[in-house]
Amino acid sequence: MTDQIKSTNITWHVGDIDREDRERLNGHQSVVLWFTGLSGSGKSTLAHAVENALFERGCRTYVLDGDNIRHGLNKDLGFSPEDREENIRRIGEVANLFVDAGVIALTAFISPYRSDRDKARAIAGEGRFCEIYVQCDLSVCEERDTKGLYKKARAGEIPEFTGISAPYEEPTAAELVVNTGPETIEESAAKVLELLKERGIIT
Ligand code: ADX
Repeated sequence: MTDQIKSTNITWHVGDIDREDRERLNGHQSVVLWFTGLSGSGKSTLAHAVENALFERGCRTYVLDGDNIRHGLNKDLGFSPEDREENIRRIGEVANLFVDAGVIALTAFISPYRSDRDKARAIAGEGRFCEIYVQCDLSVCEERDTKGLYKKARAGEIPEFTGISAPYEEPTAAELVVNTGPETIEESAAKVLELLKERGIIT
């Protein structure tokens, strides 16, 4: 379904202002910061902490968050492997639009399948995509159970729940791994900012 092309007779229009122009105006490069990890690992919390720090520096940012996007753009999608694939495909495209707009896009989706994350990387292009593995032991996520979903999943009330009855494929070549078990959010956020400086995305 996702590879189906239904649009024909369409022409790409190139505007006068391009990404480089917008980056120059903003004073920083644009990039996708792709946070991946189990539910409850701290992806959204970390993405927002990084956004706060970037905003203070005057950077243009936007957080795309799984739970929020599933209220609107992706409310037609569930949690089957096919629906998760389509969820991530759309977000990969949306994040790439943000990059074209000169923005630092921070995405917080479980994105459990390596192949789906790799496709999002390919859409943005190498150098424009930083995969950040928000590592956290399942036992810690389950203990936090901020949304009460692990309890329900263990009780068999939520099918295909990541980590319980659906897989999570760990990244093998993430640009950065943080571990929100032992680390504070501030420590993990500082590592992300360091990565952005190392890569020359921010100064
Ligand atoms: S993804 O797998 O397609 O990337 P996404 O990040 O959009 O998932 O949404 C995950 C969020 O949806 C979780 O944080 C949780 O709040 C909620 N959720 C509801 N059902 C499930 C499920 N079966 N598996 C995982 N998360 C679920």
